[in-house]
Amino acid sequence: METSESLQSSVPSQPSQPSEPSHERSNAVPRARSAGPVPPAAPRADARERDESAPVRGAGGAALGPTGRPLVEFPDPEPLTSHGPARIIAMCNQKGGVGKTTTTINLGAALAELGRKVLVIDFDPQGALSVGLGVNAQELDLTIYNLLVERGHEIHEVITPTSTPGLDLVPANIDLSAAEVQLVGEVAREMVLARVLRPVLDEYDVILIDCQPSLGLLTVNALTAAHGVLIPLECEFFAMRGVALLIDTIDKITDRLNPRLKVDGILATMYDSRTLHSREVVRSVVDHFGDQVFHTVISRTVKFPDATLAAEPITTYSSDHSGANAYRQLARELIARGDAA
Ligand SMILES: Nc1ncnc2c1ncn2[C@@H]1O[C@H](COP(=O)(O)OP(=O)(O)OP(=O)(O)O)[C@@H](O)[C@H]1O
Ligand SMILES: [Mg+2]
Repeated sequence: METSESLQSSVPSQPSQPSEPSHERSNAVPRARSAGPVPPAAPRADARERDESAPVRGAGGAALGPTGRPLVEFPDPEPLTSHGPARIIAMCNQKGGVGKTTTTINLGAALAELGRKVLVIDFDPQGALSVGLGVNAQELDLTIYNLLVERGHEIHEVITPTSTPGLDLVPANIDLSAAEVQLVGEVAREMVLARVLRPVLDEYDVILIDCQPSLGLLTVNALTAAHGVLIPLECEFFAMRGVALLIDTIDKITDRLNPRLKVDGILATMYDSRTLHSREVVRSVVDHFGDQVFHTVISRTVKFPDATLAAEPITTYSSDHSGANAYRQLARELIARGDAA
C-alpha cells in the first residue's frame, strides 16, 4: 500500500501547468489551471451590505444566479424516518481562511434544521470549529487526539452535543498537532480516522470533517475516511492557486486509498456581488469546474465572524439573514444532488 509520504512526495509543490481533463473516472473533475485566467482585481466597492437576492437576467430573460447559470430552486427534502448510515464529507482546501470551518458549522446546522442527524469533527489543532460551537476544548481531557493515538477510547466518550438540536461535535485542541508525528509509525496510518468513525456511522446521516489548511497526514486521513470532498473557494484573486495540487492529491487518494472518494462540489465563499472582481472569479471557477460548482454561493458578510464570536451557527444567531438562508440552500442543494441523505 502507498504511504502518505509517497503521496505527498509525489505531488508537485507548485500548482501544475494546464493539463487535459481526465476521462478515466466518472467522478474525475477537470484539473484546475493556475490562477492565470482570473482577471486582475477590480477596486473593491464600499463595504456597506445589501441583500443580493435580486436576480440578474440573462439573454432571453431567464433569471441567472451568481454563478452565471440559470437560478435553480432546491426543494425542502422529505423528512427522514430513520437515521444512518452516515455520508462523510471532508471540508478541504489547504489554503487558509477560505471558509472551511464556517461552512462546517453552518452547513451542519442547516442540515440539522432539516431533521438530519449531523456529527461535525474538528480535525484542525487550532480548534476553531470547537470554539465556534461554544466548546472550550483546551479544558477537555478527551478529544479527537486521544481517539487517534491512544488505545482504549471510544468515540462516544468524546462526542459533545451543541446548542443546535441534532448537531454533535467531536472537539479538538492543540494536542492534535502532535498526532501527525505520532501516527507516522502506525500500521495503516492513513486509515485511523476511518476506524475511529466506524462505531457511529449508523447513528448519523451526515458527518462533516473540518480539515486543517494543509495536505499532511491528518488531511489524508480525512480524505481516506470520506465519501466526498467539499472544497470552499474564496472569491479573490488567488482563489485557484493550489486547487490543482488539491485535486491531484484527491485523485491519488482515490486511486490508492479510497476509491469511493469523489469531489462533491466547489463552494464559492466570501462573494461580493458589488465587485466585478468577485463575479469574474466565480465565472472563472465555473469555466474550469462546470457543474462541480455549487449553485449556492456564500456572500461576504460580517455576520459570519459575529456568529463565530457568539459561538453559534448563523442559522440561530441571525436566523433571517441572507447568510443563514445561503447555508440552508446549500444543505438543500447537497441533498438534491444526492450527496447527503
Ligand atoms: N462568507 C463570509 N463572509 C465574511 N467572513 C467570513 C465568511 N466566511 C468566513 N468568514 C470569516 O473568515 C475567517 C476565515 O474563515 P474560516 O475560519 O471559516 O476559514 P478556514 O478555511 O476554516 O480557515 P483555516 O484554514 O484557518 O482553518 C473567519 O474569521 C470567518 O469568520
Ligand atoms: Mg478552519
